[in-house]
Amino acid sequence: MANFLFVTDLDHTLIGDDIPLSLLNKILNKNRTDYGTKIVYSTGRSLYRYHQLIQEKSILPPDRLITSVGTEIYINPSDHNFDLAWANEVSEGWDREGICAIASHFSDLLLQPQSEQTPFKISYYLSESIADEIIPRLKSDLAHHNLLTQIIYSASYALDILPINGGKGSALQYLRNKWGIAADKTVVCGDSGNDISLFQGEERGIIVGNAKPELLQWYYNHQTPFRYLAKDHYAAGILEGLTHFGFIQ
Ligand code: GLC
Ligand code: MG
Repeated sequence: MANFLFVTDLDHTLIGDDIPLSLLNKILNKNRTDYGTKIVYSTGRSLYRYHQLIQEKSILPPDRLITSVGTEIYINPSDHNFDLAWANEVSEGWDREGICAIASHFSDLLLQPQSEQTPFKISYYLSESIADEIIPRLKSDLAHHNLLTQIIYSASYALDILPINGGKGSALQYLRNKWGIAADKTVVCGDSGNDISLFQGEERGIIVGNAKPELLQWYYNHQTPFRYLAKDHYAAGILEGLTHFGFIQ
């Protein structure tokens, strides 16, 4: 066992089964104390909804918190100051009003609650039955107006529009570079579409057994020895993957 960087999504990845979660918490906490393991949460939730979650679930305080699908990074989730250098990178080429104006022409896109509309993320509900028709049209309208974005569809209901420099994967690379931690000493865990970018480098990847079809599909098309599809679900899947890669015994 040695020092490593542990990055995990929250909903339906770390969170979902409280018994293995409490065991994983113990193991990670010990690794952090003994070896300096760094713990990062990377969630689609806003900071506001992260605070709601930690009222209900017992999780360790992270070394960094990445919120709103990789568009904000907090050193201390209890103050509201996000990492400004990251915000600067993310803001490049982002025209929130211009994007909202185009997206508002799509009556099938239903705005998510105000708490999930953050400076660098615009989020809608979109029904799975029409997603394949709407997403290409939205992308093409945005491109036609020279609006640079990433469109991310997750869990058959959520459509996020993000800046071109944002996303969970880029936020992870930013932290990894800042801390100088190698890809093979980094492990990322996820369950759905907004986690795909976490798996795009050579970090060790754990896909929990309950992963959603879009992530499973991506995994089957991009299999390598450094990505592992767990049999177990939620935190038990993470424990299985950490053992598989030798991060824990
Ligand atoms: C979280 C966010 C939501 C987002 C979804 C998928 O549930 O609260 O705004 O659309 O993740 O990324
Ligand atoms: Mg999730």
